[in-house]
Amino acid sequence: MADDFLQKIAELQKRLDGQLKNYPFPQQPEYLYDPLRYVLAGSAKRLRPVLLTLTGQAFGVDEDDLQHAALAVELLHNFTLVHDDIMDDDLLRHGQPTVQKKWDNATAILAGDGLFVEAQRAITRVRNNAQRVYTVFNDGALAVCVGQAYDKEYEENQTITLNDYLHMTEKKTGAMLSLCMEIPALLANQEEAVCSQLRKFGYDIGKGFQIQDDILEIFSDADKMGKSLGSDVIAEKQTALSLMARKMAPEQLSELWQRSGEQPIDEKLAAMRTFFEDTGVYAETIAMAEEYFNNAVEDLAVIPDPCREVLVAFINFVKSRNY
Ligand code: IPE
Ligand code: IPE
Ligand code: MG
Ligand code: MG
Repeated sequence: MADDFLQKIAELQKRLDGQLKNYPFPQQPEYLYDPLRYVLAGSAKRLRPVLLTLTGQAFGVDEDDLQHAALAVELLHNFTLVHDDIMDDDLLRHGQPTVQKKWDNATAILAGDGLFVEAQRAITRVRNNAQRVYTVFNDGALAVCVGQAYDKEYEENQTITLNDYLHMTEKKTGAMLSLCMEIPALLANQEEAVCSQLRKFGYDIGKGFQIQDDILEIFSDADKMGKSLGSDVIAEKQTALSLMARKMAPEQLSELWQRSGEQPIDEKLAAMRTFFEDTGVYAETIAMAEEYFNNAVEDLAVIPDPCREVLVAFINFVKSRNY
């Protein structure tokens, strides 16, 4: 049974991937459209449109509306990534050089703009409950900007707590996953109580996902992840692991920073891995992500019964990702 769900998720991923890779952009001007085609040709997981589609199918939403909304969220996601890579000065995304690495910053800014506008064009093709859907879509997009602002403000701020981090994560990562749930619910004219529970799902899975992403940033490798890793460490950014370490082993953490200050990045990462494992920080951070994923499963109580299981399978699929 679980395999059937995984197969369904894989088929959806493939279909959406195909639609995005063949997105009907004009040929000219190449300055704008070549980078847009390039971004959508990268190897991405398409988690957000898959989630939106599964939820829409659970509520019996009209297929056309669902398709427009699914493409809109993935375009929006890719817009945030193109600009995020400029902000983080990263070189690799979706297994290929970032837009600013392959071209330059001006091209990447415009590519992000183009993706954002194309996302707007896609979402405004939705017909049912349209006004509400547009509002939720743009509120979600703005929440990502707010989260990204906190992310930058928190860099190198050594007074940030885990709670600050979780609030930032709700905005930066959770808001977009929330709208993947709320939009299909609105397309099916669900009431506010259902929408609010589904927004909570987005925040919970978003927190689990971002904590896991922070862990993978240190414990996975760039080839597997298909994106630059280590930039958080170089920037001494606040991540779930470093904040948990500040809580559990603050003195040892300060010593580690001092000791590894001048080390090359590979040595620094190796020292951090050992430190996080030996102090129990790694295990505790994994447990924190697990708790949010479990909360997300409980949030699914508002999804009609036979369809709930495929969304539980989606959570497990996300949980077990290694890229
Ligand atoms: C990356 O998200 C951005 C974060 C919120 C950490 P994904 O891992 O879902 O992005 P894709 O699959 O590479 O597009
Ligand atoms: C991802 O944030 C971008 C957004 C959520 C908008 P990060 O900077 O933490 O993630 P990666 O590692 O670049 O994917
Ligand atoms: Mg980044
Ligand atoms: Mg970032």
